[in-house]
Amino acid sequence: MLLKLTAVAGDGIGPEVTEQALLALQAVADGFDHQLQVQHKPIGGAALTATNDPLPPDTLQACLASSAVLLGAVGSPAFDQNPPHLRPEAGLLRLRRELGAYANLRPAVFFPALEDCSPLRGEIVRGTDILIVRELLGGAYFGQPRSIEGNPGSRVAVNTMRYGEDEIERIARVAFELAMTRKRKVLSVDKANVLECSRLWREVVTRVGKNYPDVKLGHQYVDSAAMLLVQRPAEFDVLLTENMFGDILSDQAGGVVGSLGLLASASIGGPIGLYEPVHGSAPDIAGKGIANPLGAILSVAMLLRHSFQLNAEAGCIERAVSAVLSQGARTADLVRKGQAPISTAEMGRRVAEAVTSQQAERTA
Ligand code: IPM
Ligand code: MG
Repeated sequence: MLLKLTAVAGDGIGPEVTEQALLALQAVADGFDHQLQVQHKPIGGAALTATNDPLPPDTLQACLASSAVLLGAVGSPAFDQNPPHLRPEAGLLRLRRELGAYANLRPAVFFPALEDCSPLRGEIVRGTDILIVRELLGGAYFGQPRSIEGNPGSRVAVNTMRYGEDEIERIARVAFELAMTRKRKVLSVDKANVLECSRLWREVVTRVGKNYPDVKLGHQYVDSAAMLLVQRPAEFDVLLTENMFGDILSDQAGGVVGSLGLLASASIGGPIGLYEPVHGSAPDIAGKGIANPLGAILSVAMLLRHSFQLNAEAGCIERAVSAVLSQGARTADLVRKGQAPISTAEMGRRVAEAVTSQQAERTA
């Protein structure tokens, strides 16, 4: 199969982790006889510096002409004072919208080898396997009007949280369909005791749920869900929620399983999927070669599964990651007292090698 991708590595640690993710992808493509074709394009701060546009037309065209997009990260303090449309994040938000990627899947899975990395006791975190289904194109992120107006000292800022029934319905369906392939539980997270958006959310999710009698649907206010996520993470299956709640809870889920650096994501629903680690650009450690590339590498597994239906290939990468973690490989975010960290490149090399050796076993 031809795997035609656009890689938009972006800012901070984005290029470092994307490079390792592409090495893992190349290893799996070699092993399974696929042809990998990758175009690199700028996005975010990197694109702002080059063209004063966080999503240049050339980048968007390349993304639209490929079968899937692999993103590193966007965001840099250098642009903190820029107007909203000239911030790195604006490029990512526009790309999500242009790709119609309304469903953001963020798995948070506990790796037995990393039990000591979780701030939670082993008995609590063991067995955690959560799939956060985050609505990605609605809510306060995109709602109009939005503004900061008035004179310094008396300015007023406005954002609008907005959800249409159709937007809630389509993301709910994604969550229920995925739940059917898992433990058949959906927990819908909202703030229906305060927000109109959440009341509509709860009503529509309940309605969609009637078509999935085998799935157990629960509802939880977001504040309480945040608490349950650290108290009883292993009881979650699919967590369905709106854009901003999903942004917040997915970082928390990263902390629960030991490091945000482990979390991958798929943004799907449109014709072309977008795949990115959840962690962001981490400017404080950029360029040091110490970032954890596993979130990006596991995003490639999601890319193979969701954009190309290559489940064996995806599984091969996921098993390779588990294997290197079991052998004790740790980047700086994962080391405990007395352990020596390995670099971004070394972690990537070990995963690619594990992919290749699994291949050798398969064909032996
Ligand atoms: C994420 C990030 C983005 C978001 C930012 C960079 C716009 O935090 O993917 O979680 O808020 O969606
Ligand atoms: Mg986030």
